[in-house]
Amino acid sequence: MPKDWYEWHDLYNTEPKLQQRLEIVREYIAYSLNASPIGAIRIVSVCAGDGRDLLGTLENHPRAKDVYARLVEINSNLVERGRATIESLGLAKQIEFINGDATIATNYIGAIPADIAIVCGVFGNLADEAELNRLLDNLSFLSKKGTFVIWTRGHSNGIAYSDNVRKILRTSGFEEVNFKLTATQDMGIGIHRYLGENLPKPKEQQLFVFSGIPSKAR
Ligand SMILES: C[S@@+](CC[C@H](N)C(=O)[O-])C[C@H]1O[C@@H](n2cnc3c(N)ncnc32)[C@H](O)[C@@H]1O
Repeated sequence: MPKDWYEWHDLYNTEPKLQQRLEIVREYIAYSLNASPIGAIRIVSVCAGDGRDLLGTLENHPRAKDVYARLVEINSNLVERGRATIESLGLAKQIEFINGDATIATNYIGAIPADIAIVCGVFGNLADEAELNRLLDNLSFLSKKGTFVIWTRGHSNGIAYSDNVRKILRTSGFEEVNFKLTATQDMGIGIHRYLGENLPKPKEQQLFVFSGIPSKAR
């Protein structure tokens, strides 16, 4: 069992579920980049980990030069690793890795509204459905009409939690672009488009509460 979120990332080396999830998330990021009009592409990543989903995609993507991204992550070791990757890719002028609290609205100022919002490994670490609704509602601060939102939700105890996420997204002003289950069948990965308008001021400073712990990560 991982003792912290840094150790949790080691599971990417051994767990097929996480490896397949990463592959699909990268596929969706590449899809969103390909679908973006000519010009700058703004990206935010909420609870970014070490940023391997976005950075691994940009490594080989022709639109990498157009990307302006802000990744927000609270674990300083993960941020350090992500920053080293950014340097090695020569993207330091375009990509900021903030060591801070991704639940706080001010940490996104200057980087939003985003064209692509990556919210992976977050929905399963919220207390309940009310908290998911709150986060989805507050995405109107990070997003604008047409923003791609890429998300993941693990299943457990035979419960397909991603079904409920898709249902809630449908009724909360998001249009599904694609959804896939990992081959392991216990992790859902979705890409939706936000249909609403950007909210220039946040409804509340705290956009959501991240309450998950690494030993029980979903
Ligand atoms: C399940 S991991 C997902 C990491 C990454 N998005 C991925 O999919 O590989 C959850 C991440 O959220 C980070 N985290 C937890 N609370 C946070 C907060 N309040 N602000 C920013 N990051 C947070 C953890 O440190 C961890 O890296």
